[in-house]
Amino acid sequence: QDGRVARIASAIRVIPDFPKPGIMFQDITTLLLDTKAFRDTIDLFVERYKDKDISVVAGIEARGFIFGPPIALAIGAKFVPMRKPNKLPGEVISEEYSLEYGTDTMEMHVGAVQAGERALVIDDLIATGGTLCAAIRLLERVGVHVVECACVIELAELKGRDRLGDKPLFVLVNAA
Ligand code: PRP
Ligand code: MG
Repeated sequence: QDGRVARIASAIRVIPDFPKPGIMFQDITTLLLDTKAFRDTIDLFVERYKDKDISVVAGIEARGFIFGPPIALAIGAKFVPMRKPNKLPGEVISEEYSLEYGTDTMEMHVGAVQAGERALVIDDLIATGGTLCAAIRLLERVGVHVVECACVIELAELKGRDRLGDKPLFVLVNAA
């Protein structure tokens, strides 16, 4: 690519031992402070997805809500939030997924998407891939075609990409 990715990578702050010892936290809030790097982040996704006939950008709570909407607006797609449990007021469909300890649930409003639509799933980061897999399952259950998943950061060591199987994953920065 061009110099944009290097600037994006250096705008992400790494905070050791957060939220617990041994974790190197990838903090994208500093990326949001760098107006050029933030714009470049959105532009790189928009350049990739603008001609892919995508009608849905599905953003995963919480940080997928930061990157998803500007991409959706720029490519002329709707934005659909994939939320933590008991947050959406309407009828939902839910999907459980495993975390390091225990499980969590992701929810999407019934009627937000229609069978046959083409979706991009967006989040800030892929670690084990469990979160993206849950989003893919939710969308596919209602007949949506997930064209690709996209993240700003990939922790490649955790092999989340393998868990996605043959579902394409696009990332800007590798934080191995
Ligand atoms: C982080 C990150 C991804 C997810 C990746 O979110 O923002 O959504 O973990 O992990 P995985 O690939 O192992 O599933 P987190 O669950 O901490 O919640 P948040 O975005 O609401 O802070
Ligand atoms: Mg998250």
